[in-house]
Amino acid sequence: MGDNCQANHCEEEQKEFEPKIVAFLCNWCSYAGADLAGVSRIQYPPTVRIIRIPCSGRMNPLYILKALSNGADGVLVSGCHPGDCHYISGNYVARRKFAVLKSFLKFVGVEEDRVNFSWVSAAEGGRFAEVVKGVTERVRKLGPNKGIFTRHEGGSVNAQSN
Ligand code: FES
Repeated sequence: MGDNCQANHCEEEQKEFEPKIVAFLCNWCSYAGADLAGVSRIQYPPTVRIIRIPCSGRMNPLYILKALSNGADGVLVSGCHPGDCHYISGNYVARRKFAVLKSFLKFVGVEEDRVNFSWVSAAEGGRFAEVVKGVTERVRKLGPNKGIFTRHEGGSVNAQSN
């Protein structure tokens, strides 16, 4: 029975876990899509902290690492659909940066599903909500970010060795 209680306790803890997800959204499409979801009162999990960026191509991969090292459980980067970038090719640049970053994250032991990339247009409030739900579920399954990065006094950050 003791084991059962412990298992139930673990299940409750798992259920209570609400991930903190930092969402970097391009100003012209995804941010407007999130805004549309809001004004249309489309429900989505309150797990995202939105940061508006001018274009997904301007996304510095270091911001993603910084978010993870500062306690985010997951990160979402979202931009305009291919062909719709306000700056012509920013989202293609972002896609390439993101692919390289993914392999780096794998190398340092960060689970692939913690970092997500999507396309959401200004007219897709419903899609934005679905993306947030999907990312939240994937990150929730992973559990809290155990911190692959350690913070040292003075602010420097190192990757942990497991
Ligand atoms: Fe949206 Fe470039 S302006 S991705």
